[in-house]
Amino acid sequence: MEGLNKYVEENKQRFLDELFELLRIPSVSADSKHKGDMIKAAEFLKEKLTSAGAEKVEIISTPGHPIVYGEKIVDENLPTVLVYGHYDVQPPDPLELWDTEPFKPVVKKTDIHPEGAVFARGACDDKGQMYMHVKAFEAMQQLGDMPCNIKFMIEGEEEVGSEHLGDFCRKYKEKLDCDVILISDTAMIGKDNPSITTGLRGLSYVEVEVIGPNRDLHSGVYGGAVDNPVNVLCEMIASMKDENNHITIEGFYDKVATVSDEERKMMNKAPFDLNAYTSDLEIADVSGEKGYTTLERTSIRPTLDVNGIWGGYIGEGAKTVLPSKAYAKISMRLVPNQRSEEITKLFTSHFKKIAPPTVKVKVTPHHGGEAVVVTTDSDEYRAAHRAIEEAFGKAPIPQRSGGSIPIVPLFEEVLGVKSILMGFGLDSDALHSPNEHYGLFNYYKGIETIPLFFKYYSATKK
Ligand code: BES
Ligand code: MN
Ligand code: MN
Repeated sequence: MEGLNKYVEENKQRFLDELFELLRIPSVSADSKHKGDMIKAAEFLKEKLTSAGAEKVEIISTPGHPIVYGEKIVDENLPTVLVYGHYDVQPPDPLELWDTEPFKPVVKKTDIHPEGAVFARGACDDKGQMYMHVKAFEAMQQLGDMPCNIKFMIEGEEEVGSEHLGDFCRKYKEKLDCDVILISDTAMIGKDNPSITTGLRGLSYVEVEVIGPNRDLHSGVYGGAVDNPVNVLCEMIASMKDENNHITIEGFYDKVATVSDEERKMMNKAPFDLNAYTSDLEIADVSGEKGYTTLERTSIRPTLDVNGIWGGYIGEGAKTVLPSKAYAKISMRLVPNQRSEEITKLFTSHFKKIAPPTVKVKVTPHHGGEAVVVTTDSDEYRAAHRAIEEAFGKAPIPQRSGGSIPIVPLFEEVLGVKSILMGFGLDSDALHSPNEHYGLFNYYKGIETIPLFFKYYSATKK
């Protein structure tokens, strides 16, 4: 597609300037003080979708943050691709670990991105990746080459669990009617190793509270005689994995789908450099469930992790205190056939069962979601494969990811439509971490690949 590459080349700077403008809006969905910024980001997208040529562009409010919708129906008889993305971002904390400010995007070169990468919160997840679709749409419009219908649904609550998206999809089922959903919110193996995401893990997320004595106590006067909730919580958490890093919650693995030896063999053929992995993270070695490789541990196996833990005195200096309460936020990544709600129940009863009689415990469930597997045997997968092969000059391989996008199974359930996960980020792009970035190469290459997907996808429907 020569015209396309030329269009991207000629508009490179503007495409970047516009992304910068979007990245300057601190649309942190978790933080109510950014409510106004959420609206600003939605308005920015409304304007850009409209000027790119979308019709019926609107900001639809929900009980939470609004959803931006737009469409271009070129012919009712042609297939319709629904592009999903999110304009909300994770909180930038801890701020002191950023080399530059999270909402002041800058381009810097890195070893992996010698052409430069945009550093900002949301650069990769998902503003940079979502905005590629707006620019790819603009290019198709400008070149008079829109091979099928397109709809955009860009939400603002992905990072907080997409709580209102289910109702939204049910309410606007007809409006959202489409043949396939296209999402760029995942990663590739590498710039020279393109891949298509064929799996996502599910999620069960809980907050726990361990309650000891009715007040904080002097740790000298009472220490040794009264159970300390922080100690108890640590012991309880430690007991949830055995010496093989197997999760000890009864029934936890009962429904886990077994992956055939053949598939495991295939999956382990994917390029993976253990040394690069450990040295990037500055860790001496990896660790995890016995009997599985790192690629398997982060895709086809479930996990249990503490995301945050607190209690007692954490201020400056030392305070001798036996705290009254301890807390933790715990996530479990799930794999096909494990149901989020059921796992939350299993966790809750297990946690209550293992608590010693000296404390009380409370478990509060947060958002959850189900795992996803994407078949490679579909028109849309083949279209994505062809598009990437042509744009990157190398055939992509299928790869299951460890992350979660709970709305993907929801789309299937409510709209009856499957998704294609054509992500262009890299795992090393520091999503959710300080110094998040997105390669310029990936940004522009994505804009060039997306129209090819449209072209090949609509060709399969002729
Ligand atoms: N884009 C990510 C999910 C992702 C990242 C998938 C990398 C594959 C590779 C998404 O924004 C995300 O962060 N999802 C959350 C779950 C959500 C319920 C908060 C996650 O995976 O923690
Ligand atoms: Mn995302
Ligand atoms: Mn995210």
